[in-house]
Amino acid sequence: MSEEWIKVAAPATISNLGPGFDVFGMALKDPYDVVYARRTDGGVKVVSIEGPGSEGLPLDPLRNSAAIAAEEVLRRSDADFGMDIKIVKGIRPCSGIGSSGASAAGGAFAANIIAGGVLSDTELVLCAAHAEEVTSGGLHADNVAPSLLGGFAVIRSYMPLEVVRIEPPDHLGIVVAMPDVIVGTKEARQVLPSEVSVKDLVFHVGNASCLVNAMMTGDLDLLGRSVKDAIFEPARAHLIPHLKEAKDAARSHGAKASFLGGSGPCVISFFNKETMDGSSIAEAVKSVFLSNDIGCESWITSPGEGCREV
Ligand code: HSE
Repeated sequence: MSEEWIKVAAPATISNLGPGFDVFGMALKDPYDVVYARRTDGGVKVVSIEGPGSEGLPLDPLRNSAAIAAEEVLRRSDADFGMDIKIVKGIRPCSGIGSSGASAAGGAFAANIIAGGVLSDTELVLCAAHAEEVTSGGLHADNVAPSLLGGFAVIRSYMPLEVVRIEPPDHLGIVVAMPDVIVGTKEARQVLPSEVSVKDLVFHVGNASCLVNAMMTGDLDLLGRSVKDAIFEPARAHLIPHLKEAKDAARSHGAKASFLGGSGPCVISFFNKETMDGSSIAEAVKSVFLSNDIGCESWITSPGEGCREV
């Protein structure tokens, strides 16, 4: 028995946002993956994957993030049926804007609809984070939580999981510039230090605390000053050629902050939508990469909602 397909949009996300490694994440309005799903008699199967970078993604349900997340939802829901999945990627893998996280979130969200909505938001985040752990080599929920819940998400605790959702300011504009550079999250986590100094810890706690205040009050100048990372982005900077020039170009064209999205290579810039449209920032960042013979795609977007049936 196979039933009608449902269709879920699962947004890209930016994570870390400077001081909040594995803690902060934000859903984007664009781009997003589309996950189709239907109930079947047994087993979770990935029928097809289309879209940018899909040729490198596994159909094997034990290695596909949407299928792993869906399987976990069905298991926790005590479901005695399976699911077919079709994925249309809007987000290239190895982008730094939560490509695997969007598919995992979409798979979990779709499975929960098919299973009758038994699981809570927190359980869905856990199911999708489990998929991230399998595919990226580290448990992190800072992409899947905002992809599922929308807005700005703070992972207060992993054990037990507690996620706090905050509504980002309406006037926050976001430029996402994606250079033609491939950075896998697994590899980008392997270059990180295993210990940090008290000095860096103090720096991160101060900035992270003020960043949350800025998100809640809409103070984009404070937000810009608080998007700081003394540990993780510096350890990864060598993986993304011309990162510093790209960030400098964004700042000199009016960005409030410019930083590495997640594990990279996307360069994310924040701007005030009340004073500019972000196009000069997008062009400036792109031209840094293009003038160094590196292709670059960009989106001018804003914070967005989480997974939804469309
Ligand atoms: N917080 C994760 C990392 C996000 O930086 O490794 C990966 O997209």
